Amino acid sequence: MSEELRVRDDRSRSLARALEGYLTEWSERTGIAVEIWALPGRDVPASFTEVVLAVLEEALANVERHSRARTVSVAVTHGRGGLRMTISDDGVGFFGEARGRGVVAMRAHVRRLGGSLGVNGSPGEGTTVTGVLPLRRQDRE
Ligand SMILES: Nc1ncnc2c1ncn2[C@@H]1O[C@H](COP(=O)(O)OP(=O)(O)OP(=O)(O)O)[C@@H](O)[C@H]1O
Ligand SMILES: [Mg+2]
Repeated sequence: MSEELRVRDDRSRSLARALEGYLTEWSERTGIAVEIWALPGRDVPASFTEVVLAVLEEALANVERHSRARTVSVAVTHGRGGLRMTISDDGVGFFGEARGRGVVAMRAHVRRLGGSLGVNGSPGEGTTVTGVLPLRRQDRE
């Protein structure tokens, strides 16, 4: 591979790399297994990377603090509709609405980019956080 291609290849994977590194460290520190289902195949604007990492950080902080999960599954995909992220754990879940500053902050991050976020607890089954960030036309595909 030429140097130029290598540089382009590195750039196109930098979001995936950032996520992979972050998840590996988090799993080692907490002892909770992380299953990476999908990572984005190409890069997105820096503002999107920041939001994805901020949401992931808070979602995982909640897994660590509240869930008693053994495993958390993470998928971040880049498709036609934009960036989608899912963080799903097999812990205790919760009943009703998630109310707290963490969820408010995650939602504010996502909304800043015109996206939406859901936090769904299922008592005894686990919790799933889903976020969708619409990409501008030039940043798709
Ligand atoms: N992965 C999870 N497993 C179990 N319960 C969760 C999970 N994520 C969120 N919750 C529930 O949703 C509530 C709200 O989460 P949120 O992050 O908003 O607040 P918090 O973690 O309690 O405090 P902080 O504002 O410091 O983040 C939590 O208190 C917890 O009851
Ligand atoms: Mg929290």
